[in-house]
Amino acid sequence: MPDKSSRIPGFYKKSIEERLKLVVDFSGLSKEEARLLFNMGNLGPEIADVMIENVVGGMTYPFAVATNFKINGKDYLVPMVIEESSVVAAASNAARIMRRDNGISSVATDSIMIGQIQLVDLPNPWYAKQIIYEYKDEILKIANEQDPILVSLGGGAKDIDVRIIDTAVGLMVIVHLLVDVKDAMGANAVNTMAEAVAPYLVEWVGGRVYLRIISNLADRRLVRSRVKVYAEDIGGEEAVDGIVAASAFAEADPYRAATHNKGIMNGVIAVALATGQDHRALEAGAHSYAARWGVYTSLSMWEKTPDGNLVGTLEMPMPVGIIGGAVKVHPIAQIALKIMGVKTAKELAEIMGAVGLAQNFAALRALATEGIQKGHMKLHARNLAVMAGAKGELIDKVAEIMIKERRIRFHRAKELVEELTKSKKA
Ligand code: MEV
Repeated sequence: MPDKSSRIPGFYKKSIEERLKLVVDFSGLSKEEARLLFNMGNLGPEIADVMIENVVGGMTYPFAVATNFKINGKDYLVPMVIEESSVVAAASNAARIMRRDNGISSVATDSIMIGQIQLVDLPNPWYAKQIIYEYKDEILKIANEQDPILVSLGGGAKDIDVRIIDTAVGLMVIVHLLVDVKDAMGANAVNTMAEAVAPYLVEWVGGRVYLRIISNLADRRLVRSRVKVYAEDIGGEEAVDGIVAASAFAEADPYRAATHNKGIMNGVIAVALATGQDHRALEAGAHSYAARWGVYTSLSMWEKTPDGNLVGTLEMPMPVGIIGGAVKVHPIAQIALKIMGVKTAKELAEIMGAVGLAQNFAALRALATEGIQKGHMKLHARNLAVMAGAKGELIDKVAEIMIKERRIRFHRAKELVEELTKSKKA
């Protein structure tokens, strides 16, 4: 039998049901599997079908809320969507410890995004750079004509930067448009402006234009979060010293910094998913910012105060929006914003910075004291107990026995559920 072909002309024009049928024919999915895949959960087929192309179904992730967060003196329940166990529990636990002194302080800058325009083949790049600066007002005018609504809200293109870079194919002049995108993530507004400005640049200085696109190194759109944690709340000065040493390790070593920052992103991306953000942009921004000096380092820092307590800070790009894109069309993203009572993109960025800092603290505390596996194993054991049919008190009982025996397996969970259920009945 010839191999089945993945070349399916007009696949995108078909209905979701028709596409799914083709996938079933191609892959041999069972009726039950196809039915499960077709279930769109709380998204709805009409919305799913316009969000991306070639939709054949949906995939649900759990939506949780982290409790205890006090940020800038205000209480928040923070929605988190994530597949990794322990993250929400760790965030809630850290946030509880961080409630003293008005909680976590978090301040976001204005929502300035950068649009890049790439000019090549300029005979006199340095001369061209000066000319472009002289056209600044015209450039801003052309850019702002593209988005009168943004301008009416106080946003729009505010400034330019012109850089010359040396590349494998010669010198290039890179024009940066600095755009205040207010409550949007901003990619659409910035890309439209960059495309509109580009032909004028060629008219004024010659050369050729290639790329006109947003930069995800959003180093003009930062969140800065800080918190004080008292030694007495985390088991004393030894824990403080361990966390400070962990922070120094990440600052000095890119191998550790990658994992340290991953811990921060566990929190940031969970909120990003719950609120329908472009989480790839957040990841790209975070990691490129962490490498902005040419060496990859940590996004946060933990220090010991003279009185033996701990202070932590985080600084990272946070390009998030509350209008446009998936935030607008996904009903759950809207619900997530409502749960937080978020009114501006700046406020959302401030919450996400605080969550990143809390998540980072939780990981470092566990790593520097009992290790990360103990907590993970406890949750894993509980999950297995639930999967094995345990309910109520039985869940913790089964989990505890498996941990004590160091046999955290589904098979053992099932045995224990049966044994304990029988002995309860007897
Ligand atoms: C696991 O998802 C995240 C951690 O590895 C973060 C860290 O090591 O700091 C625990």
